[in-house]
Amino acid sequence: MTAGGDGTRAVAGGPGPHIPVLGRPAVELLNVRDGGLYIDATFGAGGYSRALLAAADCRVIGIDRDPHALVLGAELAAQSQGRLELVEERFSQLDAVARAAGFAQVDGVVLDIGVSSMQLDSAERGFSFRLGGPLDMRMGGAGASAADVVAKASERDLANIIFLLGEERHSRAVARAIVKARTQAPITNTRALADLVASVVRSRPGDIHPATRTFQALRIFVNEELAELAGALTAAERVLKPGGRLVVVSFHSLEDRMVKTFLAGRSATGGGSRHSPEVKRAAPTFALLTKRPMVADADEIARNPRARSAKLRAAERTAAPARNDTPSHPSPASGGGLGWGSLPSLADVMRGR
Ligand SMILES: C[S@@+](CC[C@H](N)C(=O)[O-])C[C@H]1O[C@@H](n2cnc3c(N)ncnc32)[C@H](O)[C@@H]1O
Repeated sequence: MTAGGDGTRAVAGGPGPHIPVLGRPAVELLNVRDGGLYIDATFGAGGYSRALLAAADCRVIGIDRDPHALVLGAELAAQSQGRLELVEERFSQLDAVARAAGFAQVDGVVLDIGVSSMQLDSAERGFSFRLGGPLDMRMGGAGASAADVVAKASERDLANIIFLLGEERHSRAVARAIVKARTQAPITNTRALADLVASVVRSRPGDIHPATRTFQALRIFVNEELAELAGALTAAERVLKPGGRLVVVSFHSLEDRMVKTFLAGRSATGGGSRHSPEVKRAAPTFALLTKRPMVADADEIARNPRARSAKLRAAERTAAPARNDTPSHPSPASGGGLGWGSLPSLADVMRGR
């Protein structure tokens, strides 16, 4: 959805450069109201923020860890007459961002997780195996790059990262090939890694590119995406006011499973089970608005193929106090007998454990 595309309040500047996936249901589920304050925790190309600003006379805090996204968003912020504030930060800190802006509570939080098409289409960011570029993949400017991880991780850690975060069945063969190749020359280019993976992972015509899962795994690992999502869900629980809404759009099953498990746990009602009736559940902190995830319809997928894998889940905050526990990782893909305990941290790998 773009500004005024609905016939609602227009924001100057015309249509945005990006069609956000599931933008219309996401904004509708946020129940945007005049005077409300909303956090767009994945500002990207600003599509959701633009739609929020157009839907009501509300305020929006747009967060992104990618400084390039915020530079491009400056024009929209300038045109918003003070209604849009942009903040460069990780979304796991979204409650702290709201507090720093002077707000203890907000009316809605929306997350549209993953990589933006602007990031994917910029060869120099190193996210795409189709474009030759440095093997970078960092959404923010700082920290270890994918090339650093590929250079430093042990064969076993590489195999575990690629298996758990990429759900790649041939993870051991890919890790072996990486370790062998890097003794000859450092792997610093996206094409070099993609070709190497393709030499050990067979694919048939019509399959996804054989490097897809390895690139996904490295991107999630480098950006610590699952820990970020877990942090964002609990931060949203802390900062949403009673009746405030949380909307999450995710693009792969690891993320969607984490959101689903978090919301199922936080919305469960009733006492203990038949087997342990004495165990009392804490009061639910969320009420589900989507029993099943919403997905894009055929029209949206035809316009934007990236929408094919999108799943939207939404919930409304109750008045119960936020809990202290952080959601755990979703169950790993079956097979291989590996648990999340086998996944090294980024700090472990960079320390050369
Ligand atoms: C799919 S795009 C969002 C697109 C946006 N909804 C739009 O309409 O243009 C995801 C954005 O989230 C940002 N992002 C991903 N993980 C993040 C994190 N942990 N903290 C802050 N921003 C993050 C990425 O840099 C990217 O710009």
